[in-house]
Amino acid sequence: MPKQILILNGPNLNLLGTRQPEVYGSDTLADVERDCAALAAELGAEVALKQSNHEGALVEMIQEARNTADGIIINPAAYSHTSVAILDALNMFEGPVLEVHISNIHQRESFRHHSFVSARAEGVIAGFGVEGYQLALRRMVNLLG
Ligand code: DQA
Repeated sequence: MPKQILILNGPNLNLLGTRQPEVYGSDTLADVERDCAALAAELGAEVALKQSNHEGALVEMIQEARNTADGIIINPAAYSHTSVAILDALNMFEGPVLEVHISNIHQRESFRHHSFVSARAEGVIAGFGVEGYQLALRRMVNLLG
């Protein structure tokens, strides 16, 4: 049975491609989904990509992942910097968690330098553009053995 990997995206990432392309690039979330699905197939895994603009919806998706996913790759977007609820939900998930940021959050405003999710994540990728999702996916497949 192929490993199931949830790629979860927080607020405003639905507008990837048109949202501040000078910061986030011109690829859309559908492009990310397509490229990750292709890479997952090569690596013998399966991905499901989800996105929500709502904190509670993200919490519920993480809770549901306890029964449906072996690992979670998450870009919590702005909730990285504010959400104890998302951290708490991830703390109930038993598999590995990897955190992705498209931009280099450490090069940006100081309020972006801290992420609550990083306390739970096995690894963090920031500033590699949307390629970060693919790097995280390779790492996740290795972690899941
Ligand atoms: C982001 C960085 C966050 O600070 C920001 O709020 C986002 C996207 C990134 O992918 O670089 O929405 O997580």
